[in-house]
Amino acid sequence: MRSEGPPILELRNFRYTYLEGTPRASEAIRDVSFRIRRGERVGIVGPTQSGKSTVVDSFAHLLRLKPGQVFYDGEDVAAPGYDRRKLRREVGIVFQQPDSQIIEDVVGADVAFGPTAAGLPAEETRRRVEESLNALGLPYPEYRLRYVHALSGGQRRRVAIAGVLAMHTPVLVLDEPMAGLDPRGRRELLELLIRLQKDRDLTLIVCSASLSDASLLCDRFVVLDEGRVVMDGPVREVLREADRLAQLDITLPEPVIGAREFKKLFPDLPAEILTEDELEAELLKKLGVA
Ligand SMILES: Nc1ncnc2c1ncn2[C@@H]1O[C@H](COP(=O)(O)OP(=O)(O)OP(=O)(O)O)[C@@H](O)[C@H]1O
Ligand SMILES: [Mg+2]
Repeated sequence: MRSEGPPILELRNFRYTYLEGTPRASEAIRDVSFRIRRGERVGIVGPTQSGKSTVVDSFAHLLRLKPGQVFYDGEDVAAPGYDRRKLRREVGIVFQQPDSQIIEDVVGADVAFGPTAAGLPAEETRRRVEESLNALGLPYPEYRLRYVHALSGGQRRRVAIAGVLAMHTPVLVLDEPMAGLDPRGRRELLELLIRLQKDRDLTLIVCSASLSDASLLCDRFVVLDEGRVVMDGPVREVLREADRLAQLDITLPEPVIGAREFKKLFPDLPAEILTEDELEAELLKKLGVA
């Protein structure tokens, strides 16, 4: 993690009310501040309706933002005259409902849409479409001419992710990326994201109500509840507060759930257990095997 320069993304006392000034006004974000540095891998986690997707929408510039709240690379994205194309070129977002970002009927054309719109030469676009589809387990020769609407929900999610990956943005934001994928699909996507983050030196932001996948992908968690940041810190430190997370209705990783159960038998089990391996090692110690 590097610490020089301004944060790549910053929210400063961000507040947002949908349908403001109407009887149906809904205060989605009450007060959210955080800074994300280049190369960080951050999980924005929280129960349903806590405001995760609204935070993502603020990066996408989909909301009517007030100045002074959302900054990209040190610049206020709501300032008059701000070049929003820069934001679009540099922050790739896979929305929670990926169908909403599929534009073309045919898989290859859809993945090519972003690079083409960005003005890349046809050959480079083709190369990126091939690379992105292959990376998502949708082999290019087999899938490029398929109709998007004839694919399964999980496959459409992958097409949407491929379209964003093909943009090669330095920041990648994924809102509930594992939803609708089967266990194998989840594992493959997880491995792909870990590899990409390393190869491309991405800044990665993952929203999720479950800590299982996010704890494997991220180094830091920002925990939201009712539109406020309630915890922010390294994954290990946040997971140490398992009771508080469970109270918030956030799904804990399996080994953490297991450790909580075993703690009833062995109260001095360390609070630090995060992975299957750590849980197994501690239990073997307790049983006098190791
Ligand atoms: N387009 C909208 N119009 C009105 N209210 C909205 C809209 N989108 C979200 N909200 C409200 O804002 C609050 C935060 O919603 P948001 O979708 O950001 O939460 P979330 O943490 O992403 O939830 P989930 O886990 O269900 O995806 C909720 O109370 C929601 O009802
Ligand atoms: Mg959401």
